[in-house]
Amino acid sequence: MAALGAVKDAGGGKIDFPPELIAFIDEWKVKPGSLIMILHKTQETFGYIPRPAAEKLARLTGIPLARIYGVITFYHFFKTVKPGKFRISVCLGTACYLKGGQDLIEEARNILGLAEGGVTADGLFSIDPVRCVGCCGLAPVITVGTATYGKVTKDQLPEIIAKYKNG
Ligand code: FES
Repeated sequence: MAALGAVKDAGGGKIDFPPELIAFIDEWKVKPGSLIMILHKTQETFGYIPRPAAEKLARLTGIPLARIYGVITFYHFFKTVKPGKFRISVCLGTACYLKGGQDLIEEARNILGLAEGGVTADGLFSIDPVRCVGCCGLAPVITVGTATYGKVTKDQLPEIIAKYKNG
């Protein structure tokens, strides 16, 4: 196992990893199944996994870039595009799905003119389907940043979105 200092970027990368991330990689890269953990930590750090970060991970871990992208693209959880400033998470857990979660996603995309996985041109909004967020009694549920909205109807979406758009 390389010493902590030895895993620092040898150059060529266009992204700085904070020391905590470097330390995490150094700790995890020798363990089985480490790539998923490392990718989670990287996404937690940047909000997504930018290409330079994936390239740097390949250098730091010795894992081929193609394999890293294989995992990133297999799991929908991982993002390769920077999310919007306001991430609208629409719950598609069973309760929310049965109460129209998918309709909320489609309506929010219509309102914002977004394709799946897209970000608005002003960088403000992106929409993510998510699993149960733990308040099924309020289904269907969406979250925007740290705010949670329950029993949401399609009619309420313009007002919720406007609240963030207008600061
Ligand atoms: S299914 Fe949506 S909060 Fe549980």
